[in-house]
Amino acid sequence: MTIKSCVIGWPIEHSRSPLIHGHWLDQHGIDGSYARQGVAPDDFDEFVRAMPDHGFAGGNVTVPHKEAALKCAEVADEAARQIGAANTLWFEDGKLRASNTDAYGFLANLDAGAPGWDASKPVAMVLGAGGASRAILHALLSRDLSEIRLLNRTLSRAKELAAHFGGRIRVMDWETRNTQLAGCGVLVNTTTLGMTGAPALQIDLSGLGEEAVVTDLVYAPLQTGLLKRAGYKGLRCVDGLGMLLHQAVPGFEKWFGVRPKVTSELRTRIAADIEGS
Ligand code: ATR
Repeated sequence: MTIKSCVIGWPIEHSRSPLIHGHWLDQHGIDGSYARQGVAPDDFDEFVRAMPDHGFAGGNVTVPHKEAALKCAEVADEAARQIGAANTLWFEDGKLRASNTDAYGFLANLDAGAPGWDASKPVAMVLGAGGASRAILHALLSRDLSEIRLLNRTLSRAKELAAHFGGRIRVMDWETRNTQLAGCGVLVNTTTLGMTGAPALQIDLSGLGEEAVVTDLVYAPLQTGLLKRAGYKGLRCVDGLGMLLHQAVPGFEKWFGVRPKVTSELRTRIAADIEGS
């Protein structure tokens, strides 16, 4: 029997998840399918509840349904609860379960692209306090870092996140980003700045030491202005495509029973799709 999964969003045409999961289904010769499902916000709960009747083992959830996905799950893992949103759903023992694999994907990508990045307990700077930033803060707080500097154009959003997560987060003013970058070992951009069609991220990287790692959640374009400038300085750079690929791994394993690998072949395939669009 064909095992079915999908990605649920609104709109959904641009999701690359079907390409990623389709690649793994082919590679492992699994009788499975992974489709795009455009579901309007008002129809989300009903769609999810009816998934088993339509033969779905589960699915991914993307914008704007991630918070709703957490709310409708009967069991949610710690990451989803802390982040306040879920991106992976599956049915087990008759129950709807939810996880958020974005934090896992972020760390797996950083560990693969910049091994040992956290060995010296670096100070991290996180730019942005939107939905993506929540997963990154959850991820960074699970590692032994000296401090997390959180900066956002709208200060109140950064303060809310710091209050929610606590720990070693220090909120700083967006305008101070150039000076506060001094002494940081990790810089993470979670804002939409640098994305195709969005304004550039203005930041002076001269405060970063040569051991610093720069990573951008933006993956279209693959080489953002931030990563290009970090590359010219000889810093270690980790692009956002790897996070997209790694966050897909746990869901595939839940639905199809095989833990897939993020290979250079998969990367090349998805990168070609991004660059061609
Ligand atoms: P996501 O879920 O992808 O994080 P989001 O919740 O819309 O999306 O958050 C977008 C992030 O990019 C926010 O941190 C936003 O800053 P504000 O909270 O001040 O809106 C940031 N961002 C978007 N455009 C920006 C700009 N022109 N300058 C600075 N930050 C910007």
